[in-house]
Amino acid sequence: MDEVFFCNSGCEANEAAIKLARMFGHQQGIEQPAIVVMEHAFHGRTLATLSATGNRKVQAGFEPLVSGFVRSLR
Ligand SMILES: Cc1ncc(COP(=O)(O)O)c(C=O)c1O
Repeated sequence: MDEVFFCNSGCEANEAAIKLARMFGHQQGIEQPAIVVMEHAFHGRTLATLSATGNRKVQAGFEPLVSGFVRSLR
């Protein structure tokens, strides 16, 4: 590992992971990269991480959600 990202919360770590995944997708020439997320998973309470979360209760009231997530049951 050449670089480390220190952060102080799970959602900050997941936000960074989402940004890195999107940046990597763009570097690969993908205009609209999608990230696969799991139903029933919890990813945090920031706007991007609650959009990735597979639980409507966490998302309710904060629409429109961040797009670019593809849901999988497993
Ligand atoms: C899997 C997972 N991702 C993200 C989070 C969000 O972490 P934080 O509350 O530190 O932002 C949690 C917190 O329970 C978690 O369990």
